[in-house]
Amino acid sequence: MTDVVRVALDPSRRIGPVRRELFGSFIEHLGRAVYDGIYEPGHPSAGPDGFRRDVIDLVRELGVTTVRYPGGNFVSGYRWEDGVGPREERPTRLDLAWHSTETNEVGLHEFAAWLEQVDGELMLAVNLGTRGVEAALDLLEYANAPTPTTLTRRRAAGGHPEPFGVRIWCLGNEMDGPWQLGHRSADDYGKLAAETARAMRQLDPNVELVVCGSSSAHMPTFGSWERTVLQHTYELVDYVSCHAYWYEKDGDTASFLASAVDMDRFIEAVVATADAVAAEKRSTKKMMISFDEWNVWYQERFESSERITDIATWPRAPRLLEDSYDVADAVVVGSLLISLLNHADRVAAASLAQLVNVIAPIMTEPGGPAWRQTTFYPFALTSQRGGGVALEPRIESPTHRTADYGEVPRVSVAAVDGGETLSIFVVNRSPGEETRLDVDLAAFTELELTGALTLADADLRARNTLDDPDRVTPAANPTAEFAAQRLSLTLPAASWSVVDLRRIDTKAVV
Ligand code: AHR
Repeated sequence: MTDVVRVALDPSRRIGPVRRELFGSFIEHLGRAVYDGIYEPGHPSAGPDGFRRDVIDLVRELGVTTVRYPGGNFVSGYRWEDGVGPREERPTRLDLAWHSTETNEVGLHEFAAWLEQVDGELMLAVNLGTRGVEAALDLLEYANAPTPTTLTRRRAAGGHPEPFGVRIWCLGNEMDGPWQLGHRSADDYGKLAAETARAMRQLDPNVELVVCGSSSAHMPTFGSWERTVLQHTYELVDYVSCHAYWYEKDGDTASFLASAVDMDRFIEAVVATADAVAAEKRSTKKMMISFDEWNVWYQERFESSERITDIATWPRAPRLLEDSYDVADAVVVGSLLISLLNHADRVAAASLAQLVNVIAPIMTEPGGPAWRQTTFYPFALTSQRGGGVALEPRIESPTHRTADYGEVPRVSVAAVDGGETLSIFVVNRSPGEETRLDVDLAAFTELELTGALTLADADLRARNTLDDPDRVTPAANPTAEFAAQRLSLTLPAASWSVVDLRRIDTKAVV
């Protein structure tokens, strides 16, 4: 018999407004993200600026808001000045993070112009690895200062007399990681981040600053890192970052499908740590989280086969981290978005890492097509419906055991009240059991069902490829029924779904 999961939603049980920054992404100078990804001058769809129009269309369809740039590990060795000024004068350099050759054909101006075409907002990272306060200040002055100075005149000469007006800035990247250029202790990084933040605010008080938290909740310094760094920076920054990647290990699909439990715990631990620092400091400020790297990433593949070792052959735009995502990966991405929505009161920004070719929802072939990976769909469909207030669902769900996370509820749910609309996102985490979902919506004024989509497949390993780009797409779920303010729906095993409802009498919305 199919088990029933019971959910109740009430418009007055609000978690908080869902900020558009929750649907951010990330482009690093890594592999084929920039070169032979978004930028391929010889491609038939490329405009005069060298950017592929087919990729721009897909990025727009995906609905990303902010885009973090230019790294990632790359930023910790990056000299931002290399990427501005006349192209023919820009240096070619070795990139120590990814063992590649960086030609600097794309830099701040080109990337900002590309972002305008995808309707995205720049989230810029400064190098606190090999550089420090001075370079961060120079970049901020170059990007944001309205005053004519030597640096801003260079910006104008580069074609941008008006300031770029970059709002959100990352104070380095993953400085807790021993792999990071300039990696340092929490105490040393905390002091550097505080000095940089203080100086940047002196130049532009309107910036929003993200201080580095842990590069994973499984780092040995996790927890103490956040505490120490925030003790130095609490009143100077707006967000602390979280980074995390999940993948299926040793064929343990049940644990993998429950990865969002790990994301929930990560967020809640960072919130608790930040709140403890606030208490020590007698601060009334609420620290927000920027979950600015999250995704499924099969890191073991990179460790074992993709690492480039011979410095004589560090290539331009190598094929790195080009994970091909299957149905299970898409369900997990959908469930991670559910976790983010359910923490909308504290997670104010997030970036799916990354956007094109590198652990990405969009893939391209040089000279050939661009296509949507399986993970594209839950992101795009959630982003399209993410404008509104996240509601706190009450859930009664059967549970099952997982090796990594213990007993987990079979179903996870998030709901966004968009005023005229209500969207319900659901994941069935069970690898083998279908489930009936029953949602009590009696607390709402009269609703009507406008659609239900499910992403599932009898073959959990099915994926979209160059040869078969539409093998996996979401489909209308014919089991959805709505009557007397009750919604019911069958959720196939290992599936992600979204249900759309509409308020019939919108005048009744308070
Ligand atoms: O997104 C790929 C890499 O993962 C980033 O460069 C780094 O910040 C993280 O470890």
